Amino acid sequence: MFEIKRKDGLGRIGIFTVKNKKVQTPTLMPVIHPKKQEFDIKKFNKEIVITNAYIIYRDEELREEAIKKGVHKLIDFDGVVMTDSGSFQLSKYGDIDVSNKEIIEFQEKIGSDIGTSLDIPTPPYVSRKRAEEELDITIKRAIESLDYRKDMLLNAVVQGSTYPDLRARCAKELSKYSFDVHPIGAVVPLLESYDYRTIVNIVMSSVQHLPRSRPIHLMGAGHPMLFALMVAMGCDLFDSAAYMLYAQDDRFLSPHGTYKLQDLQEMPCTCPICLEYTPEELRRMEKDERYKLISQHNLYVSFSEMRRVRQAIYDGSLMELVEKRCRSHPTLLDAYRELLKYKKFIEKYDPVTKPSAFFYLGPESLRRVEIYRHFKKIKQLPKRSRAILLPSYGKPYNRNIPKKIKGFYRIGNSSKPIEESQFFVVDVPFCIIPLGVDELYPLAQCEVPKNYDLEMKEFLIKKIEDLFEEYEEVLVNELVNERFDLGLSNKYRDDIEIETKIEDLEIVKLMADYQFGEGSGEALFNGNIRVLRSRKTGRIRYIYEDDVLLATIRPPDGFIILTWDGAKKLHENREYPLNRVVVNEEAEPFVKAGRNVFAKFIIDCDKKIRANDEVLVVNKDDELIAFGKAVLSSYEMMEFERGVAVKNRKEWSE
Ligand code: GUN
Ligand code: ZN
Repeated sequence: MFEIKRKDGLGRIGIFTVKNKKVQTPTLMPVIHPKKQEFDIKKFNKEIVITNAYIIYRDEELREEAIKKGVHKLIDFDGVVMTDSGSFQLSKYGDIDVSNKEIIEFQEKIGSDIGTSLDIPTPPYVSRKRAEEELDITIKRAIESLDYRKDMLLNAVVQGSTYPDLRARCAKELSKYSFDVHPIGAVVPLLESYDYRTIVNIVMSSVQHLPRSRPIHLMGAGHPMLFALMVAMGCDLFDSAAYMLYAQDDRFLSPHGTYKLQDLQEMPCTCPICLEYTPEELRRMEKDERYKLISQHNLYVSFSEMRRVRQAIYDGSLMELVEKRCRSHPTLLDAYRELLKYKKFIEKYDPVTKPSAFFYLGPESLRRVEIYRHFKKIKQLPKRSRAILLPSYGKPYNRNIPKKIKGFYRIGNSSKPIEESQFFVVDVPFCIIPLGVDELYPLAQCEVPKNYDLEMKEFLIKKIEDLFEEYEEVLVNELVNERFDLGLSNKYRDDIEIETKIEDLEIVKLMADYQFGEGSGEALFNGNIRVLRSRKTGRIRYIYEDDVLLATIRPPDGFIILTWDGAKKLHENREYPLNRVVVNEEAEPFVKAGRNVFAKFIIDCDKKIRANDEVLVVNKDDELIAFGKAVLSSYEMMEFERGVAVKNRKEWSE
């Protein structure tokens, strides 16, 4: 029912198919009041809306009408209609007069596309005992709802108050059953108190245990300033009553916060409403008329922000958008900092290369997945006993570095000859960049301010100190010491002059190790290897063994792209399951013929594979049948039942 088209961090562009109707995610579902509709919501979202089945149920007239003509006709919407169950009313008024069974059957009867059971929205910070008791009821009702429905899709809401372990338990339990969407519930009180940091922990403890193959809905989060951050946590669906609630109080939503009409001298945006009216005109209007206009402004800005978030996923700049948005309010910044604590989990899903460069936008950027991953990747390179740390002479480092460099500090002692050393360029924000891999994404594709901040330097110094532990000897060039205020003592001075020459063959081997994993350089580039550089740009372009082309280097991100011969060589010399995606017998003929690999046919894969990695496609006997670019990470490949997992490099299929 759900497939992923593009990814960035935990954020994804998805297609959610509901009874043959397609919904692009992430998206905002406007909340429609079944009775009061002041304007046509289809102008904003033709694909999906949400309405409240309980409000229909308890109003006799509405109920009869909905039973007679269905909920779609009732609210005049022929896209996907999701319905809520009355749980929110339950949490607000303490009691409602409908049972779980009745409300599920009612939603089915009125033709709701996606229904919700009667979960208990346990408020934040209640006693553990209460949270556990109510959670048991929530889970029990969700499971029962599977028996009460016929073909309506089902929401199963994650509850558990502010206890991360209860949220996790709930998510794990619900994952075992065939629900279609997982809302995360009871965050509204936290939204109202600006406690976004706690929301991050709730969402992350849920998301980490929910199937990635089902859309996640953050219930009640309708403020556009939250969208980027919440999408970056893996949320796909949002509902908005905020556009109405804020308009009722004469408040304007914006991606940067909220404006009160009483304070406005200028209209806050360029939507049709803001272009047509002045704040003064609105203030003089009748309340009803004004409400209608402000709520439309609120929808315009909400949908334009949601489009911006989707575009950022396509561009690979979602985290940059999050960093910008989170500067709007200290509580949002706090939430973002909280999210960065989950980078180990996020790394499993983040693509290894993206269309846009890594932008350093403040100290938080140091804790982004890309930097964390870089330090994992450099462990894949061959280990030497001596590290030589060189300054940057401009990018690309390997092509600008002088042939000889003099003036070092020597920390430790290695008896190995100087040729057996590992060269690193020291630069922000990636700190320790092995010379030779420096043209690979994101090491070259990153922008950093020239005025360094303290955190940057501190972070870098810490990384250099780690090398002092790891290597028998570290030679630090004097310019590195100066530029980053390392403060190395003169007693370590050594006037040695070092030749920095690095052969092209060594460069491509290091690149292969960095990209495909430890030992890949030797596996791929043994034999009589020739490395050809472009005469125009000076960049490495082609790698041959004798006269056979093994690989090319893709200019924008410096990634090694294999040829069929290169893939065969990697496959021959790398052990199962390294770099592999294994497909079942059913899919084999199609994949051999050049078709893409669909997730549902995958029976095994290398856990280290990430989206946009170059991968080998094999059958169950580990025979190479194709190769191509992963669209999903290994974890998603194993989980998804729909969509493409590997794009086949058709030009090489036999
Ligand atoms: N709307 C906002 N929060 C919730 C929730 O926790 N459960 C349900 N069913 N609806 C909601
Ligand atoms: Zn506007």
